[in-house]
Amino acid sequence: MHIDYLANCQQHTDTIAGWVFAEWGYLRPGFTLENATREFRERAVIERIPLALVALDGAEVIGCINIKLSEDLTLPGVTPWIGALYVRSDWRRKSVGSQLLAFAESVAARLGIRALHLSATDALAFYERRGWGVLSRHFLQGEHVCVMVKYCQDGCKTDMPPDFICPPISPPETPAS
Ligand SMILES: CC(C)(COP(=O)(O)OP(=O)(O)OC[C@H]1O[C@@H](n2cnc3c(N)ncnc32)[C@H](O)[C@@H]1OP(=O)(O)O)[C@@H](O)C(=O)NCCC(=O)NCCS
Repeated sequence: MHIDYLANCQQHTDTIAGWVFAEWGYLRPGFTLENATREFRERAVIERIPLALVALDGAEVIGCINIKLSEDLTLPGVTPWIGALYVRSDWRRKSVGSQLLAFAESVAARLGIRALHLSATDALAFYERRGWGVLSRHFLQGEHVCVMVKYCQDGCKTDMPPDFICPPISPPETPAS
């Protein structure tokens, strides 16, 4: 198994767009498979964000992850984000997801990014065990969503740099009773 930029193996674009659309497409009303495919085509780059990475077993694609500028949540000024971490079901629990995440963190650090964010629902513990911390909690579209952060200076350490100023975030929404 190895990880590469989607830019270097764009023949997998349709496959990963299909996975991501099937897993999360319902969260974006009006969003189509064609939209998802176009987004990934735009992320087939190396030196700038947004970009996509893929996990490969030989010629087969088995997972993906994005680094993107914005999230569907309303968090003004908070950027960039990890998104679309997905491992093909027959490859799960073999550390592919951990390696994709670590690779994305190292890419972010190399690009000079100070802090990476992500939103998680049920995979919170997965990220916490990999050094991510909770930044804020929200209730969106009927789901509890946690915004998490990892500070990337000098290679994505978990310690917050002393001069880091957390960008302003909107207050968590209160669940409807
Ligand atoms: C979450 C996911 C990326 C993990 O990939 P993976 O290759 O199985 O991950 P690894 O083998 O590196 O690690 C397995 C870890 O994932 C955890 N895990 C797997 N599925 C999980 C789930 N649905 N919720 C929470 N944790 C999960 C395991 O408990 C294990 O954690 P641990 O090593 O800290 O004990 C994969 O299960 C997946 O693609 N799920 C569907 C999409 C998704 O939920 N993505 C995350 C969006 S926030």
